[in-house]
Amino acid sequence: MSVETPDGNPIIELRGLRKAFGNHRVLRGLDLRVPAGKTLTILGGSGSGKSVCLKHMIGLLKPESGRVLVLGEDITDHTEHQLVPVRTRVSMVFQSAALFDSLTVYENVAYPLREHRDWKESRIAERVRECLEAVGLAGGERLMPAELSGGMRKRVGVARGIALEPRVILYDEPTTGLDPANQRRIGELIGSLQERLQVTSVVVTHELELCFSVSDRVALLKDGRIAVEGTAAEMKVSEHPAVRSFLAGAQDSAEAGSGEASEGGRYGS
Ligand SMILES: Nc1ncnc2c1ncn2[C@@H]1O[C@H](COP(=O)(O)OP(=O)(O)O)[C@@H](O)[C@H]1O
Ligand SMILES: [Mg+2]
Repeated sequence: MSVETPDGNPIIELRGLRKAFGNHRVLRGLDLRVPAGKTLTILGGSGSGKSVCLKHMIGLLKPESGRVLVLGEDITDHTEHQLVPVRTRVSMVFQSAALFDSLTVYENVAYPLREHRDWKESRIAERVRECLEAVGLAGGERLMPAELSGGMRKRVGVARGIALEPRVILYDEPTTGLDPANQRRIGELIGSLQERLQVTSVVVTHELELCFSVSDRVALLKDGRIAVEGTAAEMKVSEHPAVRSFLAGAQDSAEAGSGEASEGGRYGS
């Protein structure tokens, strides 16, 4: 498969994606290009289709029509088997962190390595140590998920997400449900991983602070399409009605909420 994408080519491209669940048309001809080596944030209200959009990027969902191109490869019609190598290059950090509760932190982070690499234990241990260090959890190997705070769980989820040294990391609502200090920490983590690993990041969120602290580019998802897209600086001052109304609405709910809402709570997944 082709992994080299020449400069200027998008690392992920969604072309005319349509996806419905029953009568509910969620994606209605969505186009999006994710530039290499940058952080792109998809903003959108609850239920607007952000997670659905992200899931298409690793073939967890298939569109009714349209194409999904990842690292120069059209994965739209890939079988599960064909998707395996794609998912080692593009990793997704799920909203819930999705840790295995009966496994230690070590085993959670080692999981993708055991699945995809034929490494001896000492090499796995070394890689787990590096990943935990990268997320600020050095020495946490023996903890169980139940012993972790929400912020730590998210960071273990990120450590697992970078274990295979992906080219692209997809983050689904990485700060939802966290207190402000942990929200900031996750934002910094996304930025530092992008710098150190030269990855391309796609962040899905409805949180403006995270959006504007990590993004190079911002795309606003509305009515099944990307309504507006631009640099973070452009979006901040955009006069586009969809942007103004989203920014105003998000501001209101940020002031109304405590930032401590539980995961899957007010904003759902
Ligand atoms: N597997 C599914 N089956 C049926 N409906 C779904 C499924 N996944 C998502 N949806 C619906 O699609 C819409 C968009 O969902 P989602 O992408 O999760 O929104 P969000 O922008 O909050 O992440 C929602 O109305 C949701 O109920
Ligand atoms: Mg979601």
